Amino acid sequence: MRRIALAAAVILATMAGGCTLSARSDDGRTVIRFANGPDHGNFIHHRIAEFEALHPDIRVDMLEMPAASDTEHNQYATYLIAEDSSIDVYAVDVIWPAEFGAAGWAEPLEGRLPQDDWKHFLNGALAACQSDGHIWAVPWYVNAGVLYYRKDLLDRAGLQPPQTWDELVTDCQKLQQPPDLYGYLGQWKQYEGLVCNFLEFIWGNGGDVLSPDGRVVVDSAQNLEALQTMCDLRNKYQVTAPDINISQEDESLNLFMAGKGVFLREWPYTWAILQKSPASHVAGKVGITRVPHGPHGSWAASTGGWNLMLSHYSQHKAQAWAFIDFMTSTHTQAEMVLEAAFMPTREPVYGDPRVLAAMPEVAKFHECFEWARPRPVTPYYSQISDMLQADVSRAINGQTTPAQALRQAQSDIESRPGLARHDLP
Ligand code: GLC
Repeated sequence: MRRIALAAAVILATMAGGCTLSARSDDGRTVIRFANGPDHGNFIHHRIAEFEALHPDIRVDMLEMPAASDTEHNQYATYLIAEDSSIDVYAVDVIWPAEFGAAGWAEPLEGRLPQDDWKHFLNGALAACQSDGHIWAVPWYVNAGVLYYRKDLLDRAGLQPPQTWDELVTDCQKLQQPPDLYGYLGQWKQYEGLVCNFLEFIWGNGGDVLSPDGRVVVDSAQNLEALQTMCDLRNKYQVTAPDINISQEDESLNLFMAGKGVFLREWPYTWAILQKSPASHVAGKVGITRVPHGPHGSWAASTGGWNLMLSHYSQHKAQAWAFIDFMTSTHTQAEMVLEAAFMPTREPVYGDPRVLAAMPEVAKFHECFEWARPRPVTPYYSQISDMLQADVSRAINGQTTPAQALRQAQSDIESRPGLARHDLP
């Protein structure tokens, strides 16, 4: 499906003649085009305005891409396969630099990012940008799965935040009142977010997808128990929102903001939206804790986040680099965490007294990051993810049993030569 969509999009892009957009504005400024996801709250536009004020000869146009990571991936691939030079800088998900680097779409950045600056980045964030001896993007902001909970409701009932999935089920059963208030909200639609959620269930129960030496280990007893837990939350205990199987970040967040969820598994960047959005009914009522774990494992969170990549096809690499350099600087990262709760990839920002005073939750998120693990760093990640999404989704929707789903995923991934064991961290 993805490949057909991709091929059609490439044909359209080629027919459209690739890039015909002017790279100079009417007032003579060089125009840098920056592809990024939706800018909730105009947070990114504020930083762009600051950059433009510092660089009067550059204008930055931001192209807002679809919210779902996979859809964005396919749109980027469409531009890049067509060698489009109209986009200079791409905000890329942490799982893509290895793939985009191997495809020749990313400009290697180790010659531009001074080596003595590398140590300032969180190890995991920089590692996600590196493969084949190159740095393909600069870490911009980091995410890791966290569990938000309605502190007001738990406090009133005398409950502590749950540590395990069993405890979460018990709490949901005590507090939920569907359809006005659901227990658990997450992202279980068939897309990349489902893989992030699924990995937290299996890692949190001692399981994994690939072993450290690259063997496919999807079909394991720990994973079976974890996938069974997901299915039970929805079907047996009925503590999830009924449409969790078609929810992405925005749907689950909107429900939680409307006051319709006790627990929400989300990313830290949604914190500012929860607190500041006029649509939020839960500002000041939300606590932050780790994603629960299963009986055979310990806390685990999927590492997410976004990095800035310089397109190999950019015709304004110096200006594009100036923009990347500014957007990933300590200064900008401090502004972004304060305004938008975009968690910094630069370690020193976590100790910045101004940041800690204005947003003490940063320390809480930083603590949750301790349990964060990377999705496999391999040029084939998107294919592995596609297979997991399809198989896990069938189990959640009751179209197959968890055992059959995992057997299928194991054989799907194993039967594609090269998928497992390439370039693992
Ligand atoms: C968030 C994460 C990203 C992840 C995506 C999945 O945007 O930052 O890494 O792939 O969610 O939906």
